[in-house]
Amino acid sequence: MTRVFALTNHKGGVGKSTSATNIAFGMVGLLRRAGAPNNRVLLIDTDSQGHATLVTTGRNDFGADDSLYSVLMADRQTAPQVLANAIVQSHWDIDLHVLPASSLLEGAEREMMGVAGAPYRLADPLSKLAGHYAAIVIDTRPSFSLMTEMALVAATDALIPVEPRYLETVGLLSVLSKINDIREGWRRPDLRVGGILVTKMDTRVRGHRHLLDELKNHNILGKMLCGVIPANEAVSYAHRDHQNVFSYDPKAPASKAYAQLVGTLMRRLVAGAAT
Ligand SMILES: Nc1ncnc2c1ncn2[C@@H]1O[C@H](COP(=O)(O)OP(=O)(O)OP(=O)(O)O)[C@@H](O)[C@H]1O
Ligand SMILES: [Mg+2]
Repeated sequence: MTRVFALTNHKGGVGKSTSATNIAFGMVGLLRRAGAPNNRVLLIDTDSQGHATLVTTGRNDFGADDSLYSVLMADRQTAPQVLANAIVQSHWDIDLHVLPASSLLEGAEREMMGVAGAPYRLADPLSKLAGHYAAIVIDTRPSFSLMTEMALVAATDALIPVEPRYLETVGLLSVLSKINDIREGWRRPDLRVGGILVTKMDTRVRGHRHLLDELKNHNILGKMLCGVIPANEAVSYAHRDHQNVFSYDPKAPASKAYAQLVGTLMRRLVAGAAT
């Protein structure tokens, strides 16, 4: 079964899109270097802001016929084909494919409210295509919306980026409870919390160090910590150039931290495949 990683947190600006895009790109590279028979990774952008789409494709003008919106609006029989047709190649790598977001997704939530089976409208067609990919990464919007629910229903591993600030870590508990609700309420037994990822960590800030220590020592959250990404301006510069941070500056602290995270996730992926 292809693992589907969804970056999620209802808090805005915590590094969901940065992490989704760099993890997806990092996975392609790692799979290639490991000589894996299949290096393809699919990035799905479910956020109408389309930031992940913009940086990975250079475009933000996807619409009714060539984006995730088209998939959600398609009828059940044609949705897998519509999904396949909407996927584009990222300019970052030939093996990084993108299902683009569209600004129309904003209205899609309202259009689908009350439509039978709405939360499965991504998961169902995706299940027909998932085997084509070594891994799938989903970026979500900063809310507990129907769109985020759809992303989690399609996912196997929820990754939660969080900034090392007090109220951010308090919010973690509601994210965890939301994931639990989806697993039980929508009967997705495969959905688990794949990890908590601390982003924009500045070791010079005492409050950041304190929060990270608290997180590490927490009896439940500590075990979920899967990586720490430093605050690093290379990330913003890479975004400006529509690049990933590895290509922008492979030696940047954020590149090294994302490489380590990708290694951790891939080891789990391999371990999962063996069981
Ligand atoms: N490690 C980092 N160091 C410095 N800046 C970062 C880092 N990670 C992300 N940023 C910056 O923080 C901002 C928010 O990042 P990003 O867009 O990835 O967050 P998000 O959670 O996807 O936001 P939204 O909730 O709006 O979708 C961006 O300007 C990005 O360049
Ligand atoms: Mg985002």
